[in-house]
Amino acid sequence: MKILMVCLGNICRSPLAEGIMKTKVPDHYRVDSAGTISMHEGEHPDKRAIKTAASHHIDISQQRSRPITRRDFEIFDKIYCMDIDVFEDVVSRTKNEGERQKVSLFLEALGDHQNAEVPDPYWGDMKDFENVFQLLDKGCNAIKNQILKYES
Ligand code: 4NP
Repeated sequence: MKILMVCLGNICRSPLAEGIMKTKVPDHYRVDSAGTISMHEGEHPDKRAIKTAASHHIDISQQRSRPITRRDFEIFDKIYCMDIDVFEDVVSRTKNEGERQKVSLFLEALGDHQNAEVPDPYWGDMKDFENVFQLLDKGCNAIKNQILKYES
């Protein structure tokens, strides 16, 4: 199983989602993240995201931002988007129904949060990052349960 987390800049939400998800799935799973813009390409995650993850004993400090590529649609089985703008952008890059089927909104995994978005903490403070962490943790649990059920 190969899972890709996608947000706008790949420095706040999706690096956290990648780090959290890696703690929940078996080692042979591949979990990665990417952004829809290349503005922060090559950068480590936002310091506040690194600090928030560290406070939950998760190290995301070695990740590097990268933009999503065409190849991602071939490699990954599941592509989770952090908000509706990102989802629409990612869907617009798909070339066929098979690729389209791989893409979903991250929080759709929480049944009662249909269409809910993971808020962008970039312009916020540490409290916003912690709130995002909690939301991502819930979402990752739900996704993990869905995938394990699907695979069994
Ligand atoms: P992310 O947050 O999409 O969760 O990584 C953002 C990072 C950078 C920008 C916006 C959101 N930016 O405008 O540079």
